[in-house]
Amino acid sequence: MGNYVIVGTQWGDEGKGKIVDLLSEHADYVVRFQGGNNAGHTMVVDGEKFISHLVPSGILQKKKCFIGNGVVVDPEVLLEEIAYLGGKGVDVSPEYLRLSDRAQVIMPYHKRIDHAREIKKGDGKIGTTGRGIGPCYEDKASRVGIRFLDFLNADVLRAKVTEALEEKNFLLTNYFGEEPEDVEATIAHCLKLAEELKPYITDTSVEINTGMDKGQHVVFEGAQGTHLDIDHGTYPFVTSSNTVSGNACGGAGVGPGKITGVLGIVKAYTTRVGAGPFPSELFDEVGSYMQEKGAEFGATTGRRRRCGWFDMVVLRNAVRLNGLTGLVITKLDVLGGLKELKLCTGYEYKGEVITDFPADLDALDNCTQVCETLPGWDEDISGVRSYDDLPENAKAYLKRIEELAGTPVDVVSVGPGREETIVLK
Ligand code: GTP
Repeated sequence: MGNYVIVGTQWGDEGKGKIVDLLSEHADYVVRFQGGNNAGHTMVVDGEKFISHLVPSGILQKKKCFIGNGVVVDPEVLLEEIAYLGGKGVDVSPEYLRLSDRAQVIMPYHKRIDHAREIKKGDGKIGTTGRGIGPCYEDKASRVGIRFLDFLNADVLRAKVTEALEEKNFLLTNYFGEEPEDVEATIAHCLKLAEELKPYITDTSVEINTGMDKGQHVVFEGAQGTHLDIDHGTYPFVTSSNTVSGNACGGAGVGPGKITGVLGIVKAYTTRVGAGPFPSELFDEVGSYMQEKGAEFGATTGRRRRCGWFDMVVLRNAVRLNGLTGLVITKLDVLGGLKELKLCTGYEYKGEVITDFPADLDALDNCTQVCETLPGWDEDISGVRSYDDLPENAKAYLKRIEELAGTPVDVVSVGPGREETIVLK
């Protein structure tokens, strides 16, 4: 199989969980490389639903799963998830789950600051999940973060927490008008969690590379989507990490020469959760149709997702930024029943048509979409298992996406279940 990076091409929630789960069957290792428990993967196996936020979806396939150094981890959430999956009969022992000693710990004060900041911003809020992800990455960049290695050492932990709380408590009390965090209580809480996580903590880069050198195949599992990337997304309405494929290397500690290919997961229409620009958004009954039929509610927060036409400007940007070698089109079944379908191929802004995704938020907010119209199909395609059996109009829709993206469609997903999949390549 080789070593593949899987990334979302839009604004997340493309259905990466299902595809990683599927691909994992052919892999030996599955690695998360960025983000935190702001991701929410949903997998349906034999009708049973599994939601994971931190543990890579490969755990269901009994593959060795790694949480890489680029991930920020809330220890409480990880322990809860281990218990939840264990309760469903999944083996989440240290034999199958490894946690990087260099990954950063999301501390209780990170969550409090995240939450307090969103409240203070009021209408101007970013729409973060409030899970402390952003403040944790801030501390990592400021060199005051706590890594899991530090978490295991009581003396280092004490020194770091004491130093961090000097500043955080000043912020919490003087700026946000909240109660301070207690140093001793924070340390005691952390040491208890550290003890439980100790068996999982290791140098994941060494373990992953050692395995790869012996011929183990790896799936690198991206979270969120390309247009939420902190550099390339719709800044500041983005997540706090690099979500593009290049970060699979930095976030896992693997060299780019070891990557075989990059698969881009593309929903057959576009969605976005939370605030931020969304040029192909629909405010009519077609948008509501997608929202209802596609059950577009976030797996992490339950928030309603905004819906719109397929955006080729977005996809072509993702092809370039990630060096995509193949596409996986998900949720094609949701479009059945729509008379016609549109592909947004450009943005008209101040009398000009833009085809390269702009950095300028004003252009993204105030453009009108330029679209191509294709005929829809009425059939329920969720039972289709071969490309040839798809309605002609569905094939034409896929062909046109492939043509405009300049990248082949390798897989089409027609339902949430593992079996509801058409493999083309
Ligand atoms: P993030 O990492 O948070 O972006 O999540 P994700 O990309 O893994 O997406 P998530 O699994 O949260 O959301 C996709 C939803 O669509 C889940 O409820 C899936 O079960 C469902 N799903 C995936 N593929 C298909 C499909 O082809 N058709 C339908 N109808 N549902 C699908």
